[in-house]
Amino acid sequence: MKGTMDSIMSVKNACLLGVSLFVATAANGQTPKLTLDLSKPGATVSPMLYGQMTEEINHSYDGGLYAELIRNRVFKDNPTKPEAWSLVQEDSTTSKAAIKLMAATETNVPFDERRHALTGALQTSLRLTVEKAGGRVGIANEGYWGIPVKPSTTYNASFYLKGSGSMQFPRRPGSQNTAPAAPVIADSTAGPITVTIESNDGKTIYASGTVNLIKSIFWKKYELALTTAAGIQPTKDARFVISTNRTGMYYFNLVSLFPPTYKDQPNGFRPDLMQMLVDMKPKFLRFPGGNYLEGPLITDAFPWKQTLGPLEQRPGHKGSWGYRASDGLGLLEFLMWCENMGADPLLGVYAGYSLDGDHVDAGPLLKPYVEDALDEIEYVMGDAKTYWGAKRAADGHPAPFKLKYVEIGNEDWFDRSGSYNGRFTQFREAIETKYPSLVCISTIADAQYQNLKVTSGKKPAVLDEHYYRDSWDMWANASQYDNYDRKSPKIFVGEWATREGAPTTNLNAALGDAAWMTGMERNSDHIIMSCYAPLFVNVNTATSTAPKAWQWDSDLIGYNALNSYGSPAYYVQKVFSEYLGDKIVPVTAENIPSQPRPQSRRDSAQNITPKPVPTVFYSATKDAKTGVVYLKIVNTIAKPQPIEISLNGISKVSPNATLITVKGEKPTDTNTITEREKIVPVTITIDGVATVFSRNLDPYSVSIFKLQTGK
Ligand code: AHR
Repeated sequence: MKGTMDSIMSVKNACLLGVSLFVATAANGQTPKLTLDLSKPGATVSPMLYGQMTEEINHSYDGGLYAELIRNRVFKDNPTKPEAWSLVQEDSTTSKAAIKLMAATETNVPFDERRHALTGALQTSLRLTVEKAGGRVGIANEGYWGIPVKPSTTYNASFYLKGSGSMQFPRRPGSQNTAPAAPVIADSTAGPITVTIESNDGKTIYASGTVNLIKSIFWKKYELALTTAAGIQPTKDARFVISTNRTGMYYFNLVSLFPPTYKDQPNGFRPDLMQMLVDMKPKFLRFPGGNYLEGPLITDAFPWKQTLGPLEQRPGHKGSWGYRASDGLGLLEFLMWCENMGADPLLGVYAGYSLDGDHVDAGPLLKPYVEDALDEIEYVMGDAKTYWGAKRAADGHPAPFKLKYVEIGNEDWFDRSGSYNGRFTQFREAIETKYPSLVCISTIADAQYQNLKVTSGKKPAVLDEHYYRDSWDMWANASQYDNYDRKSPKIFVGEWATREGAPTTNLNAALGDAAWMTGMERNSDHIIMSCYAPLFVNVNTATSTAPKAWQWDSDLIGYNALNSYGSPAYYVQKVFSEYLGDKIVPVTAENIPSQPRPQSRRDSAQNITPKPVPTVFYSATKDAKTGVVYLKIVNTIAKPQPIEISLNGISKVSPNATLITVKGEKPTDTNTITEREKIVPVTITIDGVATVFSRNLDPYSVSIFKLQTGK
């Protein structure tokens, strides 16, 4: 199925219209029928229904959305070796050189050489020692599975560098310190140094520049722009090199290379990925996690204060998914991300429970964590006269951000100690006292965790539920919200996905997602927010020098250093969000066919025959101002299915309508990094629409009918 994304084709497809023309039959022999009640405005669709959820997983930021191209730019990713870095030696017979990680605490070097900290945050540097320089010698960075090279592109390179040498420190009388040792090799660091983006074998130089090093034993920042030529072929098989042909000891820190960023924002985002996010038209962004909020240990929780300000002051942290986070994308960058999308932040605050199972009990021990959350909220929404609001202003954003929802922790149902009741209550009381406009979200889904739910004080206003399921489970549960008690707290489906296909999900998963979303839409008076997870995956597999880039199969948007693509599920998300009214239209369904559901391993162990599941799913909303009705119908099976659609309560509808479909030929069809647009939405115009009309639903399809009714 090849299609032009969102292409508009005018199709005279009268043969598809009119009940009498149908040949396909429903399971019970009768045509499936949907009756939309348009006689009165229905309940209001939550204006926040569709958002995004993000965390540092699968190299979502480092090696993903954060545009930095240098991997391990501050040399802290691995304490035992300079990961992603290598020595470049043009002629190893005539030169003698080595690279070495230098921690500030290094002792096996002369006294003066121990001072390698650039700042308190960046205490490890890389030393290039050139004893003999017979030709070019330098350091190379392999990037995040390659450095992307594109024609006519300017890259901003920068790095800190210092040479070696003697520092004449005054000695205290009687000090045991020996006199500073002289450099062991001839120091000729001063002079020009070359910076290149080049092929991995060094034979092709894509962009090159020089900077003049001054002789200094103190850190100095060097910056230069590197521009590629017009005619080059894009490639990711490239590396970044800083090289010299002089002897000396060269110390490097915070080596950075930025390509053009989204809207040229400094320390910004990769444009193709940010554009895909903007195109989803999300109403909110849930950050910073997920597990990334919690960290493996209490001390590894997302350290938002250390993610602010100049990069020189950001130490980075352990992360929760097996690799270190640079924190180049820190709290302010999350907020800028929201601003780029016109979305509200939905802030997750660390609530004293971490992944390894440790928690901090409510009471005085929890107080510092509550205060930290209050500080964080002040950074987001406080005016520039407040302490943290002033910090935000100093960081470049004087205007406060709009904040309504604060989530207390993440998936605290894992904390079987039962401490969440007290922790949530302590956070909520402090937050609501200082910020009465804020709504605190509980991470315990009452329906599933009756014994863990919050019982102190008033009921939480909103609960976060998470669902990771296969398509059978999605289809079986797509109507679960139809019967939720409207007096219970509102629901935020803060993480969910149909998990089929890797690294990004396939068409069948998209059909599971679409069915599930029809259920959320039908009930969007009560399901006030939802967001798919995970959003991103760097699709690289392991190489001889870099590990596999992803930890979680089944993600929404895939990329490598050069290209990106949306999964079928991405396009389903995009069209569901784009084509949404503000009033729920009640729909009555008749003759919906079902299919048998295969026994799971557990079913067969327990001798259970699972219930059949429907093969057609639907929801309808109306834009009260324009009169446009958005009818979404999912056909999950291999054959076309006829459907009769009745628009009750109106006398007129435009005979022409827009039909948007996402479809494929088989459930495993998918998009990949090499075939990026196999499945994309296709938009056509149909005619023959009436207050009663019929249509054949394509096999394996999601169809959105945009019907113009009166206002
Ligand atoms: O989305 C991946 C992980 O799934 C999230 O980090 C966590 O909240 C959930 O368990």
